[in-house]
Amino acid sequence: MNKQRKVLLLGGSGFIGKQLAFALANRGWQVTVPSRRPHRNRSLLVHPNIRLLEANITDETRLRELCEGQQMVVNLVGILHERRKGDFRRYHVDFIKAVVEACCETGIKRLLHVSALGADQATGSSLYLRSKGEGENLLHTFGQRGLQVTSFQPSVVFGKEDDFINRFAGILKLFFGYFPLACADSKLAPVYVGDLVERMVNAVDDRESHAKRYTVCGPEVFTLRQILELIIDSLQLPVRVMPLGKGLSRMQALILQNLPGKLFTMDNYRSLQTDNVCPDGDHCETSLRQYLHGLPAMFGNKRNYDSFRKDYPQPGNPEDHL
Ligand SMILES: NC(=O)c1ccc[n+]([C@@H]2O[C@H](COP(=O)([O-])OP(=O)(O)OC[C@H]3O[C@@H](n4cnc5c(N)ncnc54)[C@H](OP(=O)(O)O)[C@@H]3O)[C@@H](O)[C@H]2O)c1
Repeated sequence: MNKQRKVLLLGGSGFIGKQLAFALANRGWQVTVPSRRPHRNRSLLVHPNIRLLEANITDETRLRELCEGQQMVVNLVGILHERRKGDFRRYHVDFIKAVVEACCETGIKRLLHVSALGADQATGSSLYLRSKGEGENLLHTFGQRGLQVTSFQPSVVFGKEDDFINRFAGILKLFFGYFPLACADSKLAPVYVGDLVERMVNAVDDRESHAKRYTVCGPEVFTLRQILELIIDSLQLPVRVMPLGKGLSRMQALILQNLPGKLFTMDNYRSLQTDNVCPDGDHCETSLRQYLHGLPAMFGNKRNYDSFRKDYPQPGNPEDHL
């Protein structure tokens, strides 16, 4: 009889992590998801192979305990802006050191990691991208010591519970007339969460993927402005995009980063100065354009779609073809 394999999903309660948790659980893995706020993530418990528990994973002793008995760790912990100065280093670099040490001490041989497209310790255009790059370099250095590492660098990721399309859709619904958009010409290749997760799951037992860093992009390249126009079109909102020049974009970032919620920061502005697209041709299939156009049709109209999102906020819905 096959023994059930065990995986620890750090950041498994997040947007990408939840989808990955279900995908691995469906393939027979016993998945452990630690979270600071497990009560918010109970939707994970519908799957019998998923265990959700409260844990402070930044406590190194607790992290080591969680690693005991696991065959694989996946790290998805990441932040887009700092609450406290030094958070990027804490979560993207120091935390990774702790994860690698815990894996080595507990005999774990396989580690998957989600980085970000454009992550580069030396040339990343923002602190976010440089810290992501430094953490990823660290992982791959340790990878030479018997821990088999594969990392993924996705462009912006979309799906039902994303913080990208949903956030813009939520803000755009509040506007009439013109919406002032910073960095409107920045290029992105949005990738569907199901496609990213599929690539990650396929890599698990693929020896070819050891020590590799994969860029992951969707099939289309859009400017940020085009993406907002697609959202507006799909939700039939009475608003038009007004692109801001460099100076006003920076000013918007400087103002918003000091407001609660930090909708947009100077570091986000700097990240958007680099095109977030993949250089080569191996792109994922799912089209953002089709996804956005398909949603209102799938749920009848916008009001039905909003109520669907409210009533069924868990993954495993019709559009997630994992
Ligand atoms: N979404 C995208 O478009 C995108 C694009 C490129 C790269 N990425 C990368 O992909 C990874 C996953 O992204 P996501 O969108 O799924 O993120 P997310 O929804 O924000 O989830 C982040 C996860 O990290 C955990 N976490 C955050 N801060 C933590 C802290 N201080 N201590 C402990 N745990 C913490 C959260 O757990 P709890 O709150 O439950 O404790 C949560 O499970 C990140 O590394 C991100 O940088 C994402």
